[in-house]
This record gives sequence, C-alpha cells and structure tokens, in this order.
Amino acid sequence: MHLVYCGVMSASVFPPGFTWGAATASYQIEGAVAEGGRGPSIWDQFSHSPGRTLNGDTGDVACDHYHRWQEDIAIMKDLGLQAYRFSIAWPRIMPMGRGRVNQAGLDFYSQLVDELLANDITPFATLYHWDLPVALEADGGWPFRSTAFAFADYAEVVANHLGDRIKSWLTINEPWVVAHRGYIDGTHAPGRTSLEDGLAAAHHTMLAHGYAAQALRAAHSDAKVGIVINSDNMVPRSDHRLDRLAAEQAHESMTRWFYDPIFLASYPEDAVRRYGWDMGPVFDGDLTAISQPLDMLGVNYYTRKIHADPSLDDAERPQPIVEADLPQTTMGWEVYPQGVTDFLIRLDRDYDLPPIYITENGAAFPDEVVAGAIHDADRIDYLERHLRALAAAIAAGVDVRGYFVWSLLDNFEWARGYAQRFGIVRVDYDTQERIWKDSAHRYRRIVAANGSDVG
Ligand code: FCB
Repeated sequence: MHLVYCGVMSASVFPPGFTWGAATASYQIEGAVAEGGRGPSIWDQFSHSPGRTLNGDTGDVACDHYHRWQEDIAIMKDLGLQAYRFSIAWPRIMPMGRGRVNQAGLDFYSQLVDELLANDITPFATLYHWDLPVALEADGGWPFRSTAFAFADYAEVVANHLGDRIKSWLTINEPWVVAHRGYIDGTHAPGRTSLEDGLAAAHHTMLAHGYAAQALRAAHSDAKVGIVINSDNMVPRSDHRLDRLAAEQAHESMTRWFYDPIFLASYPEDAVRRYGWDMGPVFDGDLTAISQPLDMLGVNYYTRKIHADPSLDDAERPQPIVEADLPQTTMGWEVYPQGVTDFLIRLDRDYDLPPIYITENGAAFPDEVVAGAIHDADRIDYLERHLRALAAAIAAGVDVRGYFVWSLLDNFEWARGYAQRFGIVRVDYDTQERIWKDSAHRYRRIVAANGSDVG
C-alpha cells in the first residue's frame, strides 16, 4: 500500500502490530565463558591472543548476562519491549561443535526463553553470531563444508529443545562479516587472511543457513525462519560513470553476494569474475539449499559507504562531490539515515522479499555519566532520524514488520573491545550496574506510541 502525503510532513507511520525490540549477541554480553559446560569459541581464542582486540579486551565477563539475565529481562519489560533478539552460543550447546550435547547450555536458554515469554516478550533467536566452537575451527572452520553439516546438526538440536517456544529464528548473523573479517582481512576471529578461504567460508555459511532452515522447519512446521544480512548503503562519490560503477561493484560483492543466492539462487557473475573465483566449493544442489523460501529477512543497517573510482581525480568529477563529512559515531561511521530508505526501496525492487525486520540499528557515542545520568542526545537523534527514514520506506510500500535497536546494553564490540558503547542502557563494567541512558527512556516512549511520535 502506498500512502499519499498531503504536502505537509506527516507523522511517521508504523503499521499496527509492528514489533519493537532490542538486540544482543551471546559473546558480546554473556561472559561466564568457562561455566555451565561451555566449550571455547574462536572469540575466546582470538581475544586472548596478543594484539587482536583493543586493550586486549575479552568477553570473559562482558555484561555478566549469564548470571544477570533475569535483571536484564526486567529491564526489557520496563522498556515495554515486545521482542528480544539474542543469539545462542553454539559452544554452550555443543562444546566440541558436534556430537555431545551439553544439557546445561540448553537449560540456560530454556529458562531465558521461559522468562521472556512470561513477560510477553517474543524471542527472536539467532543461531550463529560469530562464536564458532574452537574444535570446528581446528578442523578447518567455515572454509570447510563439514562446518555447514555440523551447523545443521546443531540447529536440529536447538530446534528440538527450544522450538516449542521459539518461533522466530535467524540462522546466521552477517555472513559477509563472518567470511571477510574472519578469513580474508583477519580483523575478527579466527583472524585468517586468505581470499580463497574467505570465499569458501562465505559459501558455507550460506549453505549452513539453508540446511538450518530445513532442520528448523522439519522440527517445527510453524517455525519462522530468516537470515540477517549486513546492509550498508553504497553511495558513489559523484555521478561520474566510474564512481557509480565502483559503488555498484561494492554492492555486488558485499550485498548481492548474499541476497542473490538467497532470493535468486545464483551468485552475481560480475563479482565472481572480479574475484577470480572458480566456485570450487559450490556443488550441485547448494544454491537450491541456500534459496529456501524465507518467512522473514533481517536487515542490519548502520551507515553508508562512499565509493570512488581510484583512477579519477576530483577535477574530472561532476558536482556535487560526496564527501564523508556527516557527523560520525565513535565507530567512525557516518550518520546517514536516508541510506536505510534508499537501501530498502532498492532491495524491494530487486527481489521478491518476505517481510523485513531491521534486526540491528544503533550507534556508539562517547557517553558521559553526569550525576548518574547519561544525556545521550546524539543517540536519540540517531534513532529518531533512522526511524523516520524507516517510516519513509514503509510509506513507499516496503513491508517492514519490526525494528530491533542495537543494542540493549553496552557490550563487547569485538575487536574494538569495550570502548564502543552501543547500549541504550549503560553498563558500568566495574560494578555491572545497568543505568538507563536518556535514549532508553526515549525508546520506551517510542515503543509505547508505536513510533508515531518520532516526527
Ligand atoms: C554488527 C554486529 C553486531 C555489532 C554491531 C555494531 O555488525 O552484528 O554484533 O557488533 O555491528
């Protein structure tokens, strides 16, 4: 449905039943890495290796959510959240990645889910948010097909134990990051640097998604299954043909590389050629497995990326030239709300999509505690502007059903350690005290008003 504007700025419109939530991930918040029978993950190993994370930070304690989950759910309840996106730590469920199942790990998530449901909060569970069991990495990790098979078994175990209560599943979080950061540039665990391994890893995470979707549905026919794709908006530095081509090529290799196999059962040919990829890991039937029909699509949107053809200088470019001159978060990411509108409208045009959920959106800023309060006007502004931009995409006809702010809590921001604070609730890492930022209070009102008050 297309809404007609009457010439004045109309209030943001979110459909009735729109889902408001917050997101986290296991390694970023749980801590308790050696408790409850959990096996080691590649992030334990990586963060304990010298020089891999800022200040040598690790997820050993993080937000201690493993012990404080009840307090954290009480916060969600106070916020009025309707849904909570969290991830299940594979090494808690299968400490060696395959084989023996650890009942204590299942029990942890089982009680979490029960408590969520008792508070009318719908669980959205991500099966893989980057904490691969070390034993599987030792066997070769994501560049090997065997990891996708192991993931299918893990998905089946989780579905059999939790699928009676969890109905919304997200298989893999951001396969691009898994493959490129983990295996190509090595800035994330496991820290390897091989293009060939990275492309194989990307394919096997996608295959794992397809197998897991089948396993989840086989266990519970009412399971709703999706995947989460990181979705930066690629912008050309100018309207010069070569800059536009550079942006398009980035969209092909970072975005279409994942959306095409899922929705078109193919890889983007031009990008395959540019990588010089022989598609060796792609077996007959793989693309059919990957392109399972989905019940939902998770889109993580944070920022834009400006792309320029390196052979051009600015004198050759038509005006206007796009500079990275917008306000930035402490991640160095430009605040560019229009990108979520543009991205979603294009996605909707390019593919036949299931309902979309914004599974992550949020910002790290240099929060200051002043007399026990955090007046994070910058984060409130970020959230309001992105919600308005999301409403514009909905008004243009894109079927968006929910929004999860990243993140509920400040947490372990991977290689950037604890320096980046994304929470709407602050965590004092010395005391583990949770302190509502102004953005938490604001988000609570947004949720209560179904977003109608964001302007
Ligand atoms: C996303 C990740 C999430 C968090 C945010 C800031 O790429 O999925 O865990 O690190 O970025």
